[in-house]
Amino acid sequence: MTLSLKSICSGSLLLLMLLQFIPLKRINSPVVSDIQTPDVIKNSLKKACYDCHSNETRWTGIAYIAPISWLLSSTVSSGRNVLNFSVWNKQSTMKKAQIKLVIAQGSMHQQIYYTWNPETMLTQLETKTLLHWFND
Ligand code: HEC
Repeated sequence: MTLSLKSICSGSLLLLMLLQFIPLKRINSPVVSDIQTPDVIKNSLKKACYDCHSNETRWTGIAYIAPISWLLSSTVSSGRNVLNFSVWNKQSTMKKAQIKLVIAQGSMHQQIYYTWNPETMLTQLETKTLLHWFND
């Protein structure tokens, strides 16, 4: 039997449909000890970092479609593992220095995310304010 283009296409489509049924850890655990900051700081962090570094991830449309959903949920898991603002009391004090480095890098950190969601990018002013705050 030879595989026609048509059968490959419909096979792929069927596979894609079946993939949607594989359950995923797209869970937001409770916020235990959210980092305490003034509102301006919190708004910036929520905008640019919380999707991957907190338990308040905004899971939007595309996050529900496999295989993109797998990529997103694994990015969020590894992001939360290294830094989670929702359990700030469990983060080591070393984290502040690392956070400043990442903020200074701008969209170099997680380029695909910021290209895909340009509205989450920090402005120059927000970047400056955050760096200043994390200095203390
Ligand atoms: C799209 C998801 C995502 C976003 C948004 C994101 N990060 Fe990350 N971050 C990760 C992942 C995943 C890692 C794990 C290591 C890696 O792959 O770089 C990480 C690692 C880190 C680390 C550990 C040090 C390092 O460089 O690896 C720090 C600190 C950090 N992020 C801070 C931030 C801050 C601050 C923001 C907001 C300005 C932010 N991240 C936004 C996904 C993200």
